[in-house]
Amino acid sequence: MNTHFTPLLKTLPILATLLFPSVVRAEFAPGEVVRLRREEPLKFKGKVYQTGTRGQEFTVLKVNETEHAAYVPFVTEDRQLIAVTIPEAALEKSPRIAWEDLVLAAEMLRAGKVEEASKTLDKIKPETASGDLARRIRTELNKLVTAGRDARKPGALPAYSEAFTRWKNMVKEVANDGCYGLAVVLDEAGEALTARAFGTKPPEAYLKQFPSIDKADLRTKATKSTLGLALARQFYGLSKLTEATQAVDEALLIEPGRGDLKILASRIREEGDEVGKKISMVQQLRTARDFSRALDITSRAVKLAPSNTELAALKDTLAKELEGAITPAPDDRMVSASGADIKRLTEGWELYKSRCFECHDLDNVEKRTADGWAGYVRKMAGKAKLKGNQETLISEYLAAARSDFSKNGPRKFD
Ligand code: HEC
Repeated sequence: MNTHFTPLLKTLPILATLLFPSVVRAEFAPGEVVRLRREEPLKFKGKVYQTGTRGQEFTVLKVNETEHAAYVPFVTEDRQLIAVTIPEAALEKSPRIAWEDLVLAAEMLRAGKVEEASKTLDKIKPETASGDLARRIRTELNKLVTAGRDARKPGALPAYSEAFTRWKNMVKEVANDGCYGLAVVLDEAGEALTARAFGTKPPEAYLKQFPSIDKADLRTKATKSTLGLALARQFYGLSKLTEATQAVDEALLIEPGRGDLKILASRIREEGDEVGKKISMVQQLRTARDFSRALDITSRAVKLAPSNTELAALKDTLAKELEGAITPAPDDRMVSASGADIKRLTEGWELYKSRCFECHDLDNVEKRTADGWAGYVRKMAGKAKLKGNQETLISEYLAAARSDFSKNGPRKFD
């Protein structure tokens, strides 16, 4: 199990209450997923904790309307959970996934906003992963609301109790499917709807006869997985794919059915696969001694996954291999392969590097014969403004590098 993630989970409950927001607002509602429109410092009590990258996602914990800032979870280097602030102007809503609509709808229900919740549920496309559950909630909601209208009439209690039992059974199933946070919110929503139907909170004795879930336990788990999600998003935002995978897997162990976690996990995995594919493409190019393309692809992959040490090492090796293939440094093996003078070779090498790459890149030395190279050096002498014996020095160097390659093979750097 991940060693550095676990302590974090132990330190948490600080924000537990914030993680189950009860307010539902139109703009940047708590619980909503937002992303940065631009690079932006993430601040806590005036201190900058990290510069957030464009596109980095967060779950809003709360909104400070006077400061026009949103509070989002952030995990510090010493694994403390804090809430950093981001100006609202730097944020935009992330395209909402169906799962988030589901959670939002449940929160609306808990806040008594049946209309809004129904609309949100109806928006969820049936073919999405959350489609079935959305339909199920919609059905049970209809039954509960309909029964609720008559609940206070004489003899109507059994009908209400039946609808409420169905609701509670659904909540249990949601919990059994590993969606703990959602189950808790739906459970509270059911109780809120019941209180509304009766005009008062029903007595404990009445509530006790229905199927129930261990709310405290599920809430603790959901809080932990919410933090795991925040941490995974944070690593993912920094392109630290290995750490992001660890965090998201850890969180999925805690709350296996959680839809937003599952989606983030598959996004991170896809990107990891991309990096894997790039590495194998680079290895092929490397075998074909096409180091400049290999280096180019590797540099881009490193930006995608800066913490991938395998990639970073590969990039270093490739840079050396490229240099060794195109402008190998004169050394003993080159001298003995060519019989040329090391001082002249070094002069030719310096001239070649400084005068011949201004306008274009050039092939590996093995790609042309000594005569082939000499022909081009002659042709380019004017363009490169070569004077005196500079042309001879460059050609001598290229001839020596070429015969070094033929006799001793490629230079190795790893
Ligand atoms: C001022 C710009 C310039 C400089 C400096 C220059 N070249 Fe070129 N080089 C060109 C251009 C333009 C072409 C393509 C047209 C041609 O072949 O004339 C070219 C083409 C080549 C080619 C063939 C195409 C390729 O990329 O394989 C070789 C080989 C070459 N140059 C070698 C050299 C060498 C060796 C030197 C240094 C002595 C050099 N060049 C310096 C502009 C330059």
